[in-house]
Amino acid sequence: MPGRGEVVYQVYPRSFADSDGDGVGDLEGIRQRLDHLRWLGVDALWLSPVYPSPLADWGYDVSDYTDIDPRLGSLEAFDRLLADAHDRDLRLLMDLVPCHTSIEHAWFREHPDWYIWADSGEGPPNNWTSAFGGPAWEHDSSTGRWYLHSFYPEQPDLDWHKPVVVDAMQNVVRFWIERGVDGFRLDAIDRLVKDRELRDDPPSEEPFGLPLMEHELGRDLRNSRNAPGTGRALAALREAAGDDALLVGEVYLPTVRAAPYLEHLDRLFVFELLHATWDADVLRRAIRPAAALRGRPGAAPAWVLSNHDFGRLAHRFGREHERAAAMLLLTLPGSAFIYQGDEIGMGNGPGAKPPRDRIGRDSFRHPMQWDGTAGGGFTTGTPWLPLDDAAVRNVADQRGDPGSLLSFYRDLIALRRTLPAGFEAVDDIPGVVSYRSGDRLVVINLSGERRSIPGGEVLLATATGAVSRDGSLARHAGAVIAPT
Ligand code: GLC
Repeated sequence: MPGRGEVVYQVYPRSFADSDGDGVGDLEGIRQRLDHLRWLGVDALWLSPVYPSPLADWGYDVSDYTDIDPRLGSLEAFDRLLADAHDRDLRLLMDLVPCHTSIEHAWFREHPDWYIWADSGEGPPNNWTSAFGGPAWEHDSSTGRWYLHSFYPEQPDLDWHKPVVVDAMQNVVRFWIERGVDGFRLDAIDRLVKDRELRDDPPSEEPFGLPLMEHELGRDLRNSRNAPGTGRALAALREAAGDDALLVGEVYLPTVRAAPYLEHLDRLFVFELLHATWDADVLRRAIRPAAALRGRPGAAPAWVLSNHDFGRLAHRFGREHERAAAMLLLTLPGSAFIYQGDEIGMGNGPGAKPPRDRIGRDSFRHPMQWDGTAGGGFTTGTPWLPLDDAAVRNVADQRGDPGSLLSFYRDLIALRRTLPAGFEAVDDIPGVVSYRSGDRLVVINLSGERRSIPGGEVLLATATGAVSRDGSLARHAGAVIAPT
């Protein structure tokens, strides 16, 4: 992989491929589709949580960290999937959720002292807010005390100041590493360690009851997250995972403030890019500080343009920009994360009635569209979330078409492997984001007009004819250029 980090494909397991017709995707379904990932050329897959869960947060409320949800398979099915992935040179990352468990985890009953509690009488003990809106405290009528939940009330937060909690989670990490997994995406890791004294966060202009997490990115929540002790907790996770494991942090902080996490982790999601609008200045401001990130040897940014929380790439940027956005994603320095279905241009789906997710993320999670049949090749049964437009957009149709979006992703991934190391922002053309890797130049035109660009050999462009003979780049287009 000269010059660029791995391409990771995010699998949302319940919506990827259903092998037994119950309408819910499963591990065997993923195993049967590994050849698609191999063909596409990605290096690794990250599985959103596959552990047993009462599904208050669709798997991010884990009730047993060392087993597989029976609706998705079994440990044996997991071992088969892992072995087949490794046979194809695909690494596999688990999603580790160390900040909170499900309220139905045995730990919550057997070891309530592993969680964060406060006695405060009538109201919540401080002003901390849940990422999903409202106070982060829930009153427990049986004890008369309050427990902390950084997300839904069904997700009580573990107390990482307690060594017994650290030990328990290290055992979880070792369990999966010994099984052969290659690393973890660490969920909500900025919420892992809180102020021991439970002091208030600074007063904020933002009201309670925020509907979406993204509002938090710029808020100073210095006591309810990212508190002193975070480095020690990360070091414990690293120690259990070993030096070879790939640790990817979901750190919901501005990149410059998240940088210290890279002393222990290998990758950090760049949330500024995930929230950016399709505007050259906004993108430049998101890219530059992240491209300059340093940390432990090999540490790098993880670029991401969509996931199961924030909506689809095609929807965010508009269809006319989806190829240029993919070119950006796959040519920046570091690691690139592709959310399942973005490679065929799936948009935000129809959602579900009644809703499955309480804060409205269903439409980012609808089933993968493998072919144009009634179940989209995803299921022979009734899908757990409705399908969107499988007849219009699906893997089978696009795979055979060299001009399709899917083929473009594949070409981009292949080209990425040939990019030399290095990154240097150029940005000398108005409205055009441009950067160099060695002698290769990437140009992405956001100006709304045709723009002159430096001459050279076009290695790949977003469309045939995007670079005209007079050396100008069409609007909405992008190209990778080598010197002639
Ligand atoms: C992360 C996950 C999100 C989940 C939350 C709580 O942000 O991506 O889906 O709801 O953590 O675990």
